[in-house]
Amino acid sequence: MTEHARTSVSGTEVLDAIVIGAGFAGMYQLYRLRDGLGLKVQGLEAGGGVGGTWYWNRYPGARCDTESHAYWYTFTTDLMKEWQWSERYPGHVEIVRYLNFVADKLDIKRCFRFNTRVVGATYDAAANVWRVRTDNGDELSATYLVTAVGCLSTANVPKIPGLESFKGKWFHTGQWPHEGVDFTGKRVAQIGTGSTGIQSAPVIAETAAHLTVFQRTANYSVPASNAPLSDSFREYVKNNAELIRQNMRASANGQPFFNSDRLALETPEEDRQALYEVAWRRGGLQFRGTFQDLLANKAANDTAAEFIKNKIRAIVKDPKTAELLADIDHPYAAKRPPIDSGYFETFNRDNVSLVDVRNNPIEAITPDGIRLRDGTEHKLDIIVFATGFDAMTGPLLRLNIRGRDGLELAKVWEGGPRNYLGLQVAGFPNLFTVTGPGSPSVLCNMPVCIEQHVEFIADAIAHMRKNGLKTMETTEAEMEKWVAEVNRAANATLLPQATHSWYLGANVPGKPRVFMPYAGGMQNYRKICENVAANNYQGFVLSA
Ligand SMILES: Cc1cc2nc3c(=O)[nH]c(=O)nc-3n(C[C@H](O)[C@H](O)[C@H](O)COP(=O)(O)OP(=O)(O)OC[C@H]3O[C@@H](n4cnc5c(N)ncnc54)[C@H](O)[C@@H]3O)c2cc1C
Ligand SMILES: NC(=O)c1ccc[n+]([C@@H]2O[C@H](COP(=O)([O-])OP(=O)(O)OC[C@H]3O[C@@H](n4cnc5c(N)ncnc54)[C@H](OP(=O)(O)O)[C@@H]3O)[C@@H](O)[C@H]2O)c1
Repeated sequence: MTEHARTSVSGTEVLDAIVIGAGFAGMYQLYRLRDGLGLKVQGLEAGGGVGGTWYWNRYPGARCDTESHAYWYTFTTDLMKEWQWSERYPGHVEIVRYLNFVADKLDIKRCFRFNTRVVGATYDAAANVWRVRTDNGDELSATYLVTAVGCLSTANVPKIPGLESFKGKWFHTGQWPHEGVDFTGKRVAQIGTGSTGIQSAPVIAETAAHLTVFQRTANYSVPASNAPLSDSFREYVKNNAELIRQNMRASANGQPFFNSDRLALETPEEDRQALYEVAWRRGGLQFRGTFQDLLANKAANDTAAEFIKNKIRAIVKDPKTAELLADIDHPYAAKRPPIDSGYFETFNRDNVSLVDVRNNPIEAITPDGIRLRDGTEHKLDIIVFATGFDAMTGPLLRLNIRGRDGLELAKVWEGGPRNYLGLQVAGFPNLFTVTGPGSPSVLCNMPVCIEQHVEFIADAIAHMRKNGLKTMETTEAEMEKWVAEVNRAANATLLPQATHSWYLGANVPGKPRVFMPYAGGMQNYRKICENVAANNYQGFVLSA
């Protein structure tokens, strides 16, 4: 690799590529373009360091739901052998440490500008470059623009009247202060019972004087059964890195385990219960794979749903609270299924209460707390918004991207995201998105789909350069076909039945209701992309 190819560049010089984001995706993309292709690449990152999700989400209890031996880069088994995880599910501190370890190992930090948010990107057709503007007032230009801005990086703080009048403190879990928050002796509200809220409530409850959880939609959860990893398991991982990598790449969800091929409805009741019981005790996301038909057949799904609801009723001592927690209105795993460390048990504590804001919504935030529609006021010192993200399209639309002839991405996506393979939008040449809507992304263990996209993009750019091609761009017709395929894949599952899911954009008022990730399975998606590449990037127009 040449020295100039490794140097961070600024000013009016035209770079080969700009990569936005320094999470799993941006780090690997920058490395792949710089060291794999020898390009001049500049990375831009809003945060003060690498880590992406894990740089921002430092809330109490923030921990991965993917098991540690599957939540890392696998593009080289060397990295897998050099790093050792300490627990079955790594916590946020350990993941940030891991990503810093990788960044140092690959020597990529010096190619990123941190504390730099991209606020605009415009395609200049005459020069065939992307002009990228930052919140520092800088403009950078590059031939290729890769957005690696994450699917879950735009915090969603609901617009509840009166928030600005609140005399206490409030925080969103996805923008958690790095110095931490002291809950000791405080009256704390947590709004939200998604994966985040289910992780944070048990930890907040340990020190708060009182924690009130405001629940709009009751949620399933299965025990994580987290534990320190044994030396023998760590040894197994080191010795079987290649096998683990292959299994992850071959599975539908990018996990190192495979879903069972048994059907819930063809399994006798007693055996079915026994299998659920084993899966419950083993813990983790594998519960979803107990039977093959859980996400395809509502009656099959009901058996899992009922099993978990019965567990909730058995764990939670107060019958009213138990009923509220078990009053779940969507199929199991139709929303991202959380896993927990003592979530339902938390409601047995004297200092924890549950408030139903489905039937009695939050009306306002007052100087002293939260007021519900029926006039009840909860006096508070701290409000924690575990209210999720403007997922998938949010971070991309905030880049204010304009393509050919000033075409705005926001305009093209007015009715919901449209693209080809989740990678490209017609009218935006040489713009690539890592894990964009329309790709398996959030339905997959993300490092697996990130690596696949990063490698596809790097290979496509290598192909262009080798063949003297200047632009790569998809077409309206290809987008239309792909959007139809994304809808078909979603409708073959129970996923769209969770009508309040962020997969559908339903958590953000006014957002178009479109099922965003590709539900056809990661292993199938990988094959589709391989065929596209093998057929001279079918569906993309390559121009000299
Ligand atoms: C709390 C939490 C837990 C999760 N747990 C799991 C899990 O167990 N398993 C799993 O597979 N996935 C999990 N995810 C999903 C997680 O987002 C991915 O696993 C992965 O970290 C995504 O990496 P990324 O690089 O694509 O995006 P991110 O990690 O989100 O990185 C994107 C980066 O882009 C930056 N950025 C965004 N916009 C701009 C801009 N305009 N200018 C400059 N920089 C910008 C952001 O600051 C961010 O650092 C979790 C997500 C959350 C929120
Ligand atoms: N360890 C992990 O793997 C992990 C941990 C955390 C997050 N994640 C990822 O991040 C995704 C997002 O998780 P998340 O929990 O942060 O967000 P989320 O799943 O969108 O959950 C947000 C919660 O806030 C509630 N809410 C939102 N606005 C509200 C309002 N105005 N009033 C009352 N309640 C409101 C939602 O209720 P409704 O359901 O009614 O909208 C929901 O309970 C996950 O699905 C997962 O992909 C992963």
